[in-house]
Amino acid sequence: MSSSDSCPPVTIDSNNETKTTSKISSGTEHLPQKDEKKGTNDIKTEKDGVGTDGDSSSITKGQADGAIQSGTEKPLSKNQLKKRRRYEKAMEVKKRRKEQEKEAKRAKAIADGRDLDEERRLQAEREKSGEGHKRREELWLKRMKTADTSFKICIDCSFESEMQRKEIGSLAQQIRYCYSANKRSKNPVYFSVSSLSGETHKQLSNVAGFPDQWVGRAFDCSEKSLLEMHTDKSKLVYLTADSENILDHLDDSKTYIIGGIVDRNRLKGITIAKAKELGLETAKLPIGSYLEMF
Ligand SMILES: C[S@@+](CC[C@H](N)C(=O)[O-])C[C@H]1O[C@@H](n2cnc3c(N)ncnc32)[C@H](O)[C@@H]1O
Repeated sequence: MSSSDSCPPVTIDSNNETKTTSKISSGTEHLPQKDEKKGTNDIKTEKDGVGTDGDSSSITKGQADGAIQSGTEKPLSKNQLKKRRRYEKAMEVKKRRKEQEKEAKRAKAIADGRDLDEERRLQAEREKSGEGHKRREELWLKRMKTADTSFKICIDCSFESEMQRKEIGSLAQQIRYCYSANKRSKNPVYFSVSSLSGETHKQLSNVAGFPDQWVGRAFDCSEKSLLEMHTDKSKLVYLTADSENILDHLDDSKTYIIGGIVDRNRLKGITIAKAKELGLETAKLPIGSYLEMF
């Protein structure tokens, strides 16, 4: 997974050519994506201090709460005050934007002669009866059949014990980002996450709609290992910067594995070692050919 110093984000165009984007991962890219369902992808609670951003410089709700609470006991430090103001400002902007979007939606519905309240009531009924879920699955099956690409992606989350808590938080954010970007893509791919357990799973479980609303939208996740989830080894290619095989064309019959690691380049060679241990083909994305690395 991307850590700003080692793994730039990669996009895949409709011709299956790999491209790196010059947009280096930043905290703002990992902000929760707006979903079509109210509250979906929003963090439910801040049980364990997981913020809305994987970036170390960003403020989390947990940090802001700490700053607010400590105000009753001891004076806030300059830093805490700054964090609190930044958090409050961000929340205000978010609230205003949500209200504006709601207004715009309502205005459009009125202009189109639609009854939004009735539509909402019917949608709630469909969700309750399970019909909504079925319809969504059918829609996605159709969408995947007509997509230009049919290769698959799997994020292998078997490295959790090697990561620090903050890095795990960043990994969970990046999985959310991948799901959300794939869902909105014109050419979505089948996307799975293997060995999903422990803290990574716990953090994703704080996201409203995970996993119930994710599965069925070309997404699957399991605590099963990579080879338990994808049993045909000949179809697997482990992506690693340490491979000698340069990947310049994506094969529709393959599943490309990405190591679910955020390590700030600390764990050198960990992915290729895992691929060798499993006896899997490896490939390197030609990131250096498209992006100037500092
Ligand atoms: C943060 S990197 C992990 C770096 C780690 N030190 C290692 O040895 O792989 C997370 C994942 O991004 C993918 N990745 C990063 N750069 C890549 C490249 N140039 N080509 C292919 N995959 C890459 C790999 O799957 C890797 O496991």
